[in-house]
Amino acid sequence: MNAVTVRVPAKVNLQLGVGPLRDDGYHDLVNVFHAVSLFDEVTAEPSGRLEVSVQAAPHSRVAIGGVPTDEDNLAARAARLVAERLGVRPDVRLRIRKAIPVAGGMAGGSADAAAALVACARLWDDRDQLTRDDLMEIGADLGSDVPFAVLGGTAVGVGRGERLTPALTRGTFHWVFATADGGLSTPAVYAECDRLRMEAEETAQWPTVSEGLMTALATGDPKGLGATLSNDLQPAALSLRPSLRRTIDAGRDLGAIGALVSGSGPTCAFLAETDDDAVGLAEALHGAGVAEQIVRAHGPVPGATLV
Ligand code: C5P
Repeated sequence: MNAVTVRVPAKVNLQLGVGPLRDDGYHDLVNVFHAVSLFDEVTAEPSGRLEVSVQAAPHSRVAIGGVPTDEDNLAARAARLVAERLGVRPDVRLRIRKAIPVAGGMAGGSADAAAALVACARLWDDRDQLTRDDLMEIGADLGSDVPFAVLGGTAVGVGRGERLTPALTRGTFHWVFATADGGLSTPAVYAECDRLRMEAEETAQWPTVSEGLMTALATGDPKGLGATLSNDLQPAALSLRPSLRRTIDAGRDLGAIGALVSGSGPTCAFLAETDDDAVGLAEALHGAGVAEQIVRAHGPVPGATLV
């Protein structure tokens, strides 16, 4: 078989409820994932050895400096795991074209891993031994957000965020994303969340799924969704990157019906009521100069898909 290309979406967390720190260093979550139309592409082709290259997607200004091109790259690790399962050599050239911000809180690395899982399975799994569920299970060993990048749509994740149930949604939601210069480390943001809670002498509660959020999704109600967006990591992201406060405030002032830090940040996500509103909001945010880059996207969209 020749080259295989897989397109894979970014995510925004509509609800990120962070429970107490577990003994294994992770937190129990209620994580409502939503896949949006900002895509990386991974092309896999047979090669003499495992190789990875990374470039910014055409028309995208993603800074790819921090992305490893050795065996540490999550996509390379994904290729190895698929090869192990199928008993083949992981000899594949992976070309990654990034439009999802790096270390931006939109699960770009997890997306590339998910795309590599799907692409390598397509290359090597002649006898269809691996189902999509198998790929999601392999993905969970690579990172908490990888299974969702395989699945896509909108889904509720529990545990580390890897145990997923698709959520009922209606229609399309219109988003504007404001990226920031430089990333934030996910472990550092979780650690800051723990530190702030300790400082405030606050015990972490077991998070539960927001009923209001689920109703807004099921009825396709953007205002309801905007009012119920929540992210327990936001105070930590703002503490580590205080300038994000100005970005969030600008989005609200300029008419966003919902505004929050995406995942562990520093990307900020703004919800608009209509596509036209999103165009206007994007222009206004661009003019306000509060972000590195402004990107529009809609959701939900499917997970990792062969193109
Ligand atoms: O699973 P993943 O490798 O993406 O997680 C990165 C880091 O984020 C973990 O090492 C941990 O510090 C933090 N994390 C967490 N609780 C989760 C998911 C991630 O504390 N449920």
